[in-house]
Amino acid sequence: MDTPHLLTLIGLSKRDILKLLNRADRFKRERRIHTKLLAGRSLALLFQKVSTRTRVSFDVAIHELGGYSIFLNESDIQLSRGERIEDTAKTLSKYVDFIVARVYSHDQVERLATASDVPVINALSNTHHPCQALSDLQTIREEKGALDSVKIAWIGDSTNVCNELMIGAAKVGADFALASPADFRPPKDILMSALADAEKSGSRLTITTDPLKAVTGADVIATDSFVSMGTEKGRARRLMAFIPRYQVTANLIESGRDAIFMHCLPAKRGEEITDGVLDHPSSRVWQQVENKIHMHKAILLELSKK
Ligand code: CP
Ligand code: NVA
Repeated sequence: MDTPHLLTLIGLSKRDILKLLNRADRFKRERRIHTKLLAGRSLALLFQKVSTRTRVSFDVAIHELGGYSIFLNESDIQLSRGERIEDTAKTLSKYVDFIVARVYSHDQVERLATASDVPVINALSNTHHPCQALSDLQTIREEKGALDSVKIAWIGDSTNVCNELMIGAAKVGADFALASPADFRPPKDILMSALADAEKSGSRLTITTDPLKAVTGADVIATDSFVSMGTEKGRARRLMAFIPRYQVTANLIESGRDAIFMHCLPAKRGEEITDGVLDHPSSRVWQQVENKIHMHKAILLELSKK
């Protein structure tokens, strides 16, 4: 990787992504073997929003590699009283070896990275969730054996997770079909960047309003919450736009091509999925949860060399 930080997959090459995937696979096979790789290294987990999986898996990942983490809820530090985010980044850089940050607005993580002397990892912003996309690509490759021959269908809201998986798919050569209401499409710059990568890798990017069209021939069917963190004010309008047309049901999953179902979690039964979808035989959500810890180790190790 050329970049010292991981804010989005946009600047990464196919080779960078495959290297991370291979390393994460190795960490999965060798779960408790590499106990000294990051001995004594410290990680600040700076979170403006809540998290279960990303927070715990980064925390345990660095511990299992011999390091340790410090959790910083934004409300507990001076940032919440108006300290500039650049001053926070410079301060943390004097103490810790990595900053993992979950922020409302993507420019906050960019500002952190610009001012930081240590690697900054985006643990979710309003527009990007690179760590999730990487571990999801790991899950897809485990299940389907390859990435450049699969079709991923995304149904529902074009969330941070959707944007990033689309970017990643376009880089590794997977086809990506998004079915969403026209008002809920990815930002133009993200779409343009994915289209440019898709052209290079030979993958096909389809945008439609029709979920059935998207899942035709799909190997993977994925969705995410209809009300992401930070969009709660628009909840009623969102649910009206998405339900029932964009809900993932058992029937929709079975319309794919022996498709697996994926969801980054947390999930809302009765909103983006119907009851029973997480427990459907094709669901791989718990494998996705597990792979986050292996991928986070791979990311930390990669950036520790910068
Ligand atoms: N998938 C994911 O990022 O979950 P958390 O919000 O629980 O971290
Ligand atoms: N799109 C969701 C992902 C949660 C992991 C959100 O931003 O709330």
